[in-house]
Amino acid sequence: MNKPIAEHLLGPATAFASYQDNTAARIDPQAEARAQDAGARVGISRAHESAALHVAGAATYIDDIPELAGTLHCALGLSPVAAGRLLGIDLAAVQAMPGVVRVLVAADIPGTNDCGSIVHDDPILCDGEIRYLGQPVFAVVASTRDAARRAAALAKKVLQVELAKPVLTPRDAHAGGHYVVPPMHLVRSTSGRDAEGIRAAIAAAPHRLTDSLDVGGQEQFYLEGQISYAIPKEGGAVHVHCSTQHPSEMQHLVAHALHLPAHAVHVECRRMGGGFGGKESQSGLFACVAAVAARALRKPVKLRLDRDDDFMVTGRRHCFWYEYDIGYDDEGRILGAEISMVSRAGHSADLSAPVMTRALCHFDNAYWLPEVAMHGYSGRTNTQSNTAFRGFGGPQGAIAVENILDSIARRLGRDPLAVRRANFYGVKERNVTPYQQTVQDNILEPLVGELEASSDYAARRAAVAAFNATSPVLKRGLALTPLKFGISFNVKHFNQAGALVHVYTDGSILVNHGGTEMGQGLNTKVCQVVAHELGVAFDRVRATATDTTKVANTSATAASTGADLNGKAAQDAARQIRERLAACAAGRHGGTAEQVRFANDKVFVNGRELGFDVVVGEAYLDRVQLWSDGFYATPGLSWDRETMTGRPFYYFAYGAAVSEVVIDTLTGEWKLLRADILQDAGKSLNPAVDIGQVEGAFIQGMGWLTTEELVWHPESGKLTTHAPSTYKIPTANDCPPVFNVRLFDRANVEDSIHRSKAVGEPPLLLPFSVFFAIRDAVSAAGGHRTDPPLSAPATGESILRALGAVQAA
Ligand code: MTE
Ligand code: HPA
Ligand code: MOS
Repeated sequence: MNKPIAEHLLGPATAFASYQDNTAARIDPQAEARAQDAGARVGISRAHESAALHVAGAATYIDDIPELAGTLHCALGLSPVAAGRLLGIDLAAVQAMPGVVRVLVAADIPGTNDCGSIVHDDPILCDGEIRYLGQPVFAVVASTRDAARRAAALAKKVLQVELAKPVLTPRDAHAGGHYVVPPMHLVRSTSGRDAEGIRAAIAAAPHRLTDSLDVGGQEQFYLEGQISYAIPKEGGAVHVHCSTQHPSEMQHLVAHALHLPAHAVHVECRRMGGGFGGKESQSGLFACVAAVAARALRKPVKLRLDRDDDFMVTGRRHCFWYEYDIGYDDEGRILGAEISMVSRAGHSADLSAPVMTRALCHFDNAYWLPEVAMHGYSGRTNTQSNTAFRGFGGPQGAIAVENILDSIARRLGRDPLAVRRANFYGVKERNVTPYQQTVQDNILEPLVGELEASSDYAARRAAVAAFNATSPVLKRGLALTPLKFGISFNVKHFNQAGALVHVYTDGSILVNHGGTEMGQGLNTKVCQVVAHELGVAFDRVRATATDTTKVANTSATAASTGADLNGKAAQDAARQIRERLAACAAGRHGGTAEQVRFANDKVFVNGRELGFDVVVGEAYLDRVQLWSDGFYATPGLSWDRETMTGRPFYYFAYGAAVSEVVIDTLTGEWKLLRADILQDAGKSLNPAVDIGQVEGAFIQGMGWLTTEELVWHPESGKLTTHAPSTYKIPTANDCPPVFNVRLFDRANVEDSIHRSKAVGEPPLLLPFSVFFAIRDAVSAAGGHRTDPPLSAPATGESILRALGAVQAA
């Protein structure tokens, strides 16, 4: 038998035993058995649908697909300079390298040389203008990957270029007025003022805070790098296995690059080894190059990036630089705010416009801002084109207001939690966001109150102060930060999904939907929804690869909407099959279709109990269609891009975290001692998977705000931190020794899938609490007299700089 190794060694149940720790929801093998009485398949903590394959190393990623005979390998020749013009390439030298079959340049692309997702400003291969150091200029196709890489490395020698001076920082881009999309402005005044009037309101407030903040970018660091495997098919068609969050977009980009209709391009992805936003748009370049090469050579071509090349070619989270001017009262309430945000967009637009939109729509975070003027600038720089990363600008928007409230509290000598509370959105009033959406599901007070109590916040605040009073070198810090995150794509038409459910005559079920699996557990949730709808055991249902020939015109699996959209679409498909089965069973056995019940692998009809497979078999004989499509479009959304108003979000997800740190004021080292988290996931479809998402997002976001630092050389524009040797992501060792993670169990007020809430991105904002705990500890070293000028990431250097400033003040 071809069983995964872990199952042989451990058995399927014990393979997950190591999940158990101090958090509330864990894989519980008995949970489903208990829930059987109620027939529920949702709301159950079950293991990821591929967990056994993951731990056994038997889950197939793109590079694990058995290679077809004749497969060739591709590598990219990258620009060694950040800006200039490409005058020529000595292709003969590259062509002469051992194993090289063909070298491709922009002119070899039969269709459009563009892989831009929204704005078409993103060349696949350099079109003459050199835009950043690392830009793909040519593609080598060779008999082995090693040969291709050795030849591609000649890029440093074979390019003739005319150098130009690169623009590298958001400040320089802003100073020169270089943007990838026009500046955005979002202004709201509850007293009818314009931006000028808001400035006057700020000036007239009892207190004023004027400051700036720098927050760095972040590499997705998906464990499986970017990869595409393109196979030529008859009649010029192509089949691309691509590690992507957005198969339909890959299909369109490849179709344009090859000048083919979409029906001739087949894109497939069973799973990714992580995406985190980095494969929402940026898998496109690799899909296109592999497809162009496969088409040119009529051979299968694989393009798998080396980690360093992945860093050098692709973009990541946008770093942001903020300048703000705030007016506030004696309670710390913000009366007026003006903020400019400048992001480092990189050389092309990519997703920078919707990222900035989400940043502007999350500056409010949990707080009501009566008078606010926001300005967003997406700076064009000669660097990799920045893109989606978990939170998609939301974290960058919200951290600014948290920094502001933290400063206000210090200046007033009040507890930061009290100042945050004073600014919370109201339930019936003070509840309209700057973009004019009314917050109808505010659970901030009960959620934060529960966490405040369970984390023992007040007593620990006193304990931290007592510790600091007697500890000259080590200082502790504590912070509680809340979050509110808008769920939906803020581009309305992306909020749709399709699914296909097949019931086979043996009663087994296959589901295919438009979402992609990147480790987040989407397929597990969708299978649970289908099993629940048809009243069958989870193991009857199997999810297959996302495939553009099965469900068409899909949206990216992004904006945390995967389960919301595809879960609903799959439920719709399963419901239709159930209704047909019910009608058939009632026709055969009596009673009405409405009375037929499906639960626990059984069908209850007119006082009889039949096996699900029996009813399916009968329906087949009665010529009933046993498969169905399903569709879903999120209701009630609207968005006006010009005025930046509407209802961009179906609902909000909430959460809060308390973190306690200790810092060493001599070295700048720090440690997270304890974290307590309460995250709203509505009525969770799978608490264990959701807790995993919360823990992962927390640690990942902590990396963004502390250790992960991107450094471009100030003259050459070379990204110098392009490997794990110089770019430090968190590890298991960085998890706090006390890590209490719980879900806030309350139904979504909106009719989401089984009243659950999206959980992929919102918890990335929870580690704000780590950053502000560090800021609190630094502040303590200066006697809380002045604001620490702490930038993110709070690396040892950043902490030491801030310490120097507060101690000198
Ligand atoms: N979890 C894992 N394990 N791997 C990932 O790549 N991506 C995150 C989040 N959680 C990611 C993840 C991002 S950026 C998003 S938008 C959501 O998952 C997407 O999946 P969902 O909509 O199904 O939650
Ligand atoms: N998240 C991810 N991708 C997107 C979004 C978003 O909010 N809007 C447009 N593309
Ligand atoms: Mo997630 S950044 O929306 O892919």
